[in-house]
Amino acid sequence: MHISNRDSAASLDAAHQVHPHTNLRAHLALGPTMFVRGSGIHVYDDEGKEYIEGAAALWCASLGFGSERLAEVARKAITEIGYYHNFRGSGTPAAGVLSAKLAAIAPEGMDKVLLQSSGTEANDTAIKLVWYYWHARGEPQRRKIISRRQAYHGTGTLTSCLTAKDNFHQGFGLPFEGFLYVTQPYHYRLAEPGESEEAFSTRLAEEIEALILKEGPETVAAFWAEPVMGSGGVITPPAGYFQKVQAVLDRYGILFVADEVICGFGRTGEMWGSQTYGIRPDLICSAKALSAAVIPISAVIIADRVFEAMLEQSDRFGSFTHGYTYSGHPVACAVASEVLTIYEEMDLVGHVKAIEPTFLQGFAELEDHPLVGASGGVGLIGAVEIVADKASKALHDPRLNVMPRLDAATRGHGLITRLIGNRIALSPPQIITEAETREMFARLRHALDDVAAEL
Ligand SMILES: Cc1ncc(COP(=O)(O)O)c(C=O)c1O
Repeated sequence: MHISNRDSAASLDAAHQVHPHTNLRAHLALGPTMFVRGSGIHVYDDEGKEYIEGAAALWCASLGFGSERLAEVARKAITEIGYYHNFRGSGTPAAGVLSAKLAAIAPEGMDKVLLQSSGTEANDTAIKLVWYYWHARGEPQRRKIISRRQAYHGTGTLTSCLTAKDNFHQGFGLPFEGFLYVTQPYHYRLAEPGESEEAFSTRLAEEIEALILKEGPETVAAFWAEPVMGSGGVITPPAGYFQKVQAVLDRYGILFVADEVICGFGRTGEMWGSQTYGIRPDLICSAKALSAAVIPISAVIIADRVFEAMLEQSDRFGSFTHGYTYSGHPVACAVASEVLTIYEEMDLVGHVKAIEPTFLQGFAELEDHPLVGASGGVGLIGAVEIVADKASKALHDPRLNVMPRLDAATRGHGLITRLIGNRIALSPPQIITEAETREMFARLRHALDDVAAEL
């Protein structure tokens, strides 16, 4: 096919590319907003407009946009070998070194790393590892997996079932049997009047225990959770939640899988969200900031007791029969390894802790805004909840299109955020400075003021 200079990329895209999470018919007519370059926390569209990427794109561009240093590492890796696999005992230095670096920063008792290429792959593999574990332990009937309503863990066939949002199931004939859902730990909306965070957490842990007992503990394999629920609305856990949930799971020997695809690498103010909230995971799924999102790669980090079971299975069957062509891709591994070096040099966790007070102050200062019902976060992730009435927490009439108007207004002021229902999420690149953080909140306030004035 000959593509002439007169064919704009946008019209070619509208004509030929099927876009994820997009209204397909509208896209045929409207085409994409094209982003053509980035630098630091900023991206630029094809008309040259500058935006602060307040969502780090999809919660992932931890080091911001555009990097000569990472480009050079990728160039060298492609020049040296370009590709080799890690099947049947083969390997590349890049994959070995990255695995060791990840094991070194993983929570204690988690020493093995299984490399994959996306967050969905990491979660899908973790489901298989959970089942593999229970087969090794002689309890193959443990198949059921519990996740929380509104959770997002990917869109593969099995991970769509972990993802507990109706719109991810409809039209696909999902979920499969054996995926169970419990209440989202969303204190602002789901607590009873006057219920404290601790009391709410107790009630939610009791709900999980009641479900386990109803299903039969001998049939329940694992509980799945993000430390901070990202695409479910940036829901930080209420006080005591994970301690109480973990105690229930421990009582019945149920595995805890922490989906750290968003929360890993300093996002919540510690290296792992599990550390921020005192979770003891059996498996960690990590992706996104693992490579600062410049190249696809993900990892499942495996606790020693799970690896012991995998060893037994490999003895029994002759090999661990799972893996993808691109598992441990040497170019992706070389880049991710360099990203981990950069994190060490910049003291990633120290930097997030240093910026966190300014970030949280930005949310606190929005609390008095007439459109804002609640506002807050942890580390460098947070959200504001948009309401029509602060006291009753009532939402705006959908016909007013308040959220699309806020999206247009924030973009108009040069800020990209992530809209989730009636919440506006921020999770800027972890390299953001204090001055940039203040500028990000100033742009958000301008947008809120504009829409409030129109209403
Ligand atoms: C918590 C979480 N898990 C899994 C995924 C899926 O990752 P991917 O889109 O790389 O497949 C995402 C994506 O946003 C995520 O936020």
